[in-house]
Amino acid sequence: MAAYTTDQRQLFTGSTFAVLKPATTQQVADVVWLAAHHGIGIVPQGGNTSYCGGATPDASGRQIVVSLERMDRIREIDPVSMSISVDGGAILKNVQDAAAAAGLLLPLSLGAEGSCRIGGNIGTNAGGLSVVRYGMTRDLLLGIEAVLADGTVVSDMRKLRKNNTGYDVKQCFVGSEGTLGIVTGAVLRLAPLPTRRATAWLKLANGAPLAELLALVRRESADLLTTFEFVAARSIALATEAMTDPPSLPTSPAGAILVEIASSSRHIDLDELMEAVLVEAIESGWIDDALLAQSGSQRTAMWRLRETIPEGEKRRNGSVKHDISVPLSCIQRFLDLAGSQVRSYDADLELSVYGHVGDGNLHYNVLVPRDVDRLEFTKRIESSLSLQLYDTAAALGGTFSAEHGVGRFKKHLLERYGDVGRIAAMRRIKTAFDPADIMNAGAVVRPLGEKSGR
Ligand code: MLT
Ligand code: ZN
Repeated sequence: MAAYTTDQRQLFTGSTFAVLKPATTQQVADVVWLAAHHGIGIVPQGGNTSYCGGATPDASGRQIVVSLERMDRIREIDPVSMSISVDGGAILKNVQDAAAAAGLLLPLSLGAEGSCRIGGNIGTNAGGLSVVRYGMTRDLLLGIEAVLADGTVVSDMRKLRKNNTGYDVKQCFVGSEGTLGIVTGAVLRLAPLPTRRATAWLKLANGAPLAELLALVRRESADLLTTFEFVAARSIALATEAMTDPPSLPTSPAGAILVEIASSSRHIDLDELMEAVLVEAIESGWIDDALLAQSGSQRTAMWRLRETIPEGEKRRNGSVKHDISVPLSCIQRFLDLAGSQVRSYDADLELSVYGHVGDGNLHYNVLVPRDVDRLEFTKRIESSLSLQLYDTAAALGGTFSAEHGVGRFKKHLLERYGDVGRIAAMRRIKTAFDPADIMNAGAVVRPLGEKSGR
């Protein structure tokens, strides 16, 4: 059972008396119907890669885990409608590969793509590395199939771009993290597969304004920008230490930016375009130097460095993650304010800051010192410094969870920072969909009638 009862960061271990692995939507419906009939709670689980304990049963031992891992089929690709229909348990990477084999792109890409599953991506509204161009999972969702808390099957696997026929029920499941039902199928929007890419590593000048640099790159790259990732010098060092063959890339104490532009057209010279953008950025004084990838392997090396950061943190002794986002116009202010908060909390703390600046989203992670107990440290930081950082993000109009969800770990933060009316609406939706609180009870939001502090 261990793989199903511990969250992927091993911060919390729950328990269960059964893991069920249905193979069809009807079997999911039957399982849910039976569980509802007997008052048994259900935790829907995909790849179990949630950072927020959204897919892990609680400690009561009374919730069953319903794993979608056997429901992993690609149902249909429609190249003309540019859509793909899949099971809720399809692994993201397999869906990307199936789309690519048909000459199309599933524009959702994130570190866990080799193990996370589409139902979980929908449940958390997963973001990742190309949101700046294509949006979050929400923006890719055309149709859904889901089992409600009484076993009713919502079957709306349409591939329509336009369908204004009342409430957009499929969007209710986005961000619901299994609390409203189980996503058993989805239709996702595809895009033309980029055949050309230009990838560059930008060495930031001291005090470079990130939002202005982003605006320059976005404007001058003819809206072909797919990635704009910030990596602080400490995060680069962590990734480098964790790699067997780390690339040598221009970097400075101010950090670096990984930029990629991509196009499906054979008529645009992307290298030429990127070179022009880089020259302008250097002339602006915001970057000191840049390296434009000259080969596929150089490009891969840049990406590997970025994607190895979480592993680098883990190898060191882990990090306390803060998945914050603020309006782009406030990103510099957040970095300044948060930096001084950390320094005055404990000048010896080390940070690993990186992320999707193109989306106003930073992973503002506090590194766990090597010689301390990880769980204890995490608990201490989360009840003190983390709240200061979230207060700062909130004061700037930002959020405590940009793309990692709420799950069990951040439920109290939603209560603390969420708009009262919005939470009231969420609780009503939860109770309307799941009056007996069967579906992933304890995650995201309290149903009506339940007191806080569960
Ligand atoms: C990433 O962007 O790499 C992840 O969302 C953050 C993480 O793994 O900490
Ligand atoms: Zn991320």
